[in-house]
Amino acid sequence: MDKIRIRGGKRLSGKIRISGAKNAALPLMAASLLTDEPLVLVNLPQLADISTMANLLTHLGVDISMAGETGKDGHTGRSLSLHAREITDTTAPYDLVRRMRASVVVLGPLLARSGHARVSLPGGCAIGTRPVDLHIKGLTQLGAEIDLTGGYIDAKAPNGLVGAHFVFPTVSVGATENVLMAACLAKGESVLSNVAREPEITDLAHCLVAMGAKIGGIGSDTLIVQGVERLHGAEHTVIADRIEAGTYAMAAAMTGGDIELIGVQLDLMESVVDKLIEAGVKIEKTDQGLRVSCDTRLRGVDVMTEPFPGFPTDLQAQMTALMSTADGASMITESIFENRFMHIPELARMGANVTVHGASSLVRGVGALTGAPVMATDLRASASLVLAGLIADGETWVSRVYHIDRGYERIEEKLAACGADIERVDE
Ligand code: EPZ
Repeated sequence: MDKIRIRGGKRLSGKIRISGAKNAALPLMAASLLTDEPLVLVNLPQLADISTMANLLTHLGVDISMAGETGKDGHTGRSLSLHAREITDTTAPYDLVRRMRASVVVLGPLLARSGHARVSLPGGCAIGTRPVDLHIKGLTQLGAEIDLTGGYIDAKAPNGLVGAHFVFPTVSVGATENVLMAACLAKGESVLSNVAREPEITDLAHCLVAMGAKIGGIGSDTLIVQGVERLHGAEHTVIADRIEAGTYAMAAAMTGGDIELIGVQLDLMESVVDKLIEAGVKIEKTDQGLRVSCDTRLRGVDVMTEPFPGFPTDLQAQMTALMSTADGASMITESIFENRFMHIPELARMGANVTVHGASSLVRGVGALTGAPVMATDLRASASLVLAGLIADGETWVSRVYHIDRGYERIEEKLAACGADIERVDE
């Protein structure tokens, strides 16, 4: 199994091109199920989760082929054509779904297009119990009949879905995506209130509009969808990954470095930029993205994760690593997931001083971290260990690197190109 070895202490400088966003790409790929014409997605990142979704879609009958070279128009990602001419299977089996819980996002499109979907319940994961009750409630409101049997969500709508008003009791990214996609092919109008406003949802909505969907209120907390009889093919470019960008911004800040993040949009990461500036990081807009630099010791700042436009939970672990050597203390509160502190015992093994009290962790900045063998437990936790390794004295070995490969494209190559002493070692 691969490990990542980092020798800390190198100042990072240079440019990093940000890849297409994984969390935008996955629902966009599922949207291909809504039409019998090809959906071409440009700038798809090359990640394990993208391959998992491609395998699932192929299983359902989607024909996936390359559609253009990598590097076209300055993007690093691939372009794929996804053609669901005919849905040949309406079951997303346990074996495929357990590998990636985001697979559940095929439920809405499959049901809307075929009148039936059987999707394995994803189960819990390392960061929380993560139920799917909101996906089920929303689709039920659109007229689906849903049974939970044998570990599967069995959804039927033999006469098609019907538009309705649904108020999400709490904000959910995945449930918003599922219900939005289903509403596009429902009969009549759907009003979806208290929807998630993450940029990845806005990206999905724009793609659906390009496919012929009628959606109002894009970017707000209420989406109004006029159902259409059919959607058609389209070409859509996946937005840049704001979480990857935030992670590299923190790498620049921690190492006292200077990195230009190419392809990112400031308005997608204002809450992160504000916190970094408050901590002492310099951030300026450039023609191609953002330049992040730092020449002082950072100050401890308090952070609370919230749905967009708040500070993203997907950068909470990395922020903890950033604060671990800041001057003073910082309180980091996780309000989205109940168990997203798995990185803390590993950071503590590198000398970080962090105590968890309920949903908050208190980080008392230390003078330095020391390299150690550490274990990745989930995607973002792994990223925080890589960040800590970049500034730790000596060698850090991060094992279970497959977690990182789910969401960061060639992380060691991107950091090494900016001067980090980092390599992947096949053990
Ligand atoms: C998406 O997960 C992202 N995944 C996550 O990114 C991200 O952390 C999360 O949104 C929050 O921003 C993808 O986009 C593929 P939610 P999702 O439904 O959709 C509860 C990463 O590292 N909830 O917004 O699963 C849930 O338990 C990943 O890239 C219900 O109670 O998140 C959680 O506490 C990890 N019932 C909260 O809502 C439901 O039916 C928010 O979850 C659904 C969710």
